Amino acid sequence: MRTTSTLAVAALATPLALAQDSSSKRGLCYVDTKDSSTDDAIWDGSDSDLTWYYNYESTPTSGIDGSKLQFVPMQWGAPSSNTDMTFYNNVKSLIDGGSNITYVLGFNEPDGCANGGSCVDAQTAAQTWIREIEPLKKEYGVKLGAPAVTGSPNGFVWLQNFFTACAGKCSADFIPVHWYGDFQGLASHIGQVNGTYPNMTMWVTEYAYPEGNLEDSQDFYNQSASYLDRLNYVTHYSYFGAFRSSVSNVGPNAAMLTQKGELTDIGAWYLGQEATGHKPKGGSHSGAGQVAKFAGWAAVVVGAMMFLA
Ligand SMILES: *[C@@H]1O[C@H](CO)[C@@H](O)[C@H](O)[C@H]1NC(C)=O
Ligand SMILES: *[C@@H]1O[C@H](CO)[C@@H](O)[C@H](O)[C@H]1NC(C)=O
Ligand SMILES: *[C@@H]1O[C@H](CO)[C@@H](O)[C@H](O)[C@H]1NC(C)=O
Ligand SMILES: *[C@@H]1O[C@H](CO)[C@@H](O)[C@H](O)[C@H]1NC(C)=O
Repeated sequence: MRTTSTLAVAALATPLALAQDSSSKRGLCYVDTKDSSTDDAIWDGSDSDLTWYYNYESTPTSGIDGSKLQFVPMQWGAPSSNTDMTFYNNVKSLIDGGSNITYVLGFNEPDGCANGGSCVDAQTAAQTWIREIEPLKKEYGVKLGAPAVTGSPNGFVWLQNFFTACAGKCSADFIPVHWYGDFQGLASHIGQVNGTYPNMTMWVTEYAYPEGNLEDSQDFYNQSASYLDRLNYVTHYSYFGAFRSSVSNVGPNAAMLTQKGELTDIGAWYLGQEATGHKPKGGSHSGAGQVAKFAGWAAVVVGAMMFLA
């Protein structure tokens, strides 16, 4: 790695002018909602600059064109059986079938045990990794993303326990990072991860400024996009907000789509387009069924709200 602290300081101090520019680092954190079948075409259309996606699963999303957005499989949690090979077999089938699988992601928020975290202890995660994930590297040269812990202090403890439990048999190639909070918090968290794992590249696979007003949410988006684009050791990032504002669990203003499924300004900028001026509106969060099938991320939002307070 050749990134220096000078670069980081420069990134922080640089004006926001390039926020709407495209970046090959950008991917889609795919969230399956009741409107997905209608909205999928937004992400892989010819005017979208996104290059990759993940959907918290080991198999691709049928509505997303894998020739446009490279699919990155994820082993979301630990299977109940310690001989289960579903993840390994699914990824092997994809590769054998000709899919260009060059990366996989480890567990999603294994340190989160409420509201959808995958809640896996470090020992079980290490055993599962050695059985199902590590062989993909040995046999196919796939690059491996470490477990994506929450942005809470406990996340660092869990990840260290995981590597200890691995006893050198889990050769992660990069560290996925999640953050919910303001921009200074994001930059500081990334710095702390870099300080802890100085020789690893990072993917920021979930991040957003939850429950902010529109201007602050856009300001956060602009600052973080510039920052992540300039930071050499962050090679990929995926903003958390690929859904309609009316079903958003991170507040309507963080969403990339309005309640009608149009791109918001943030959504348009993220895809490399000009601002749309479409204003997101919230839905009735008290109404059961509004928030559809979000995959294991709510725990981190709850954690982030404590940091915001
Ligand atoms: C990341 O960590 C490396 C190794 O400690 C350090 O040289 C580098 O300055 C850090 N990068 C930033 C942006 O802080
Ligand atoms: C497969 O994906 C990698 C990483 O994104 C890319 O560099 C490579 O060109 C792709 N290969 C093919 C055959 O598309
Ligand atoms: C990082 O890489 C450098 C140079 O290869 C090496 O000297 C150092 O020990 C590594 N640090 C860690 C924490 O692995
Ligand atoms: C964000 O960046 C866009 C595009 O550069 C700019 O038009 C907009 O005013 C910025 N918004 C904020 C709140 O910084």
